[in-house]
Amino acid sequence: AQRPIIIQGPMPIEAENFAERLDKVKVEKSGTFVFYKGKVNNYPVIVVKTGKGMENTAAATALAIEKYDPIAIINQGTSGGHDPSLNVFDIVLGKKVTNIGSLKTGSLGENEGIEPTNWIPMDLMASEGSAGEDPDAEKIRYYEGDKELLAAAHAVKDKYTKGKIVEGTIGSADLWNNEVDRINWFHEKYGTSVEEMEGASAAQIATQYEVPSLVIRILSNNKTNGGQYNPDTAAANQDYVYEVVKQYISQI
Ligand code: 5AD
Repeated sequence: AQRPIIIQGPMPIEAENFAERLDKVKVEKSGTFVFYKGKVNNYPVIVVKTGKGMENTAAATALAIEKYDPIAIINQGTSGGHDPSLNVFDIVLGKKVTNIGSLKTGSLGENEGIEPTNWIPMDLMASEGSAGEDPDAEKIRYYEGDKELLAAAHAVKDKYTKGKIVEGTIGSADLWNNEVDRINWFHEKYGTSVEEMEGASAAQIATQYEVPSLVIRILSNNKTNGGQYNPDTAAANQDYVYEVVKQYISQI
């Protein structure tokens, strides 16, 4: 049997538009996760409404891999800009994805305060030992976007007309940053183009199972240049990802 492509979207507005385009859809549920199993150009594609955040995404990813043995996973949805040259409706292809919520604080005693700018990136996959003690864990872990998925995304770039499409670094955490200095800190330290709450979780689990993956995120807002939140971006991203999927199927 053909191995399906999994398309993940966290919120209803980030999954249902794509699900509506599938042929012969069957809906399966597991916990709060909804799997829309169907076809694109006669190839099996499963859209998953994961729910928001790192935990939902990790569980939905592991479950989808165990249940459906996918050939590839695309995690897609909205994001907030960290780069002032990116505007609402621009799309970032995750050349790299990283967990920006995984941090170790500095060592301070009582009444010595809280110093977030001194916090150190922490890589929980660096070793099986204590992340608090292991100096090897004091680094940023990046997950690379799959080359074939990136090639498919580039091949259909011209079909998207609502903004530009760039490669970049996507930062994920259960966190919504509204402090521009903090956004700039991530942009400089991690090289982030955008932030959201799922991509790095999907990429981590996909990597652990050796399934190719790519995160594709549209800017729905950008605090660094005054870009106002626009929920219509969610549908626009799915329109583009649909083109990416058709292209990827033609490459298989
Ligand atoms: N910060 C964090 N998450 C964001 N999202 C959109 N913009 C941002 C932002 N500025 C996405 C997350 C989450 C939902 C709140 O929208 O991925 O699913």
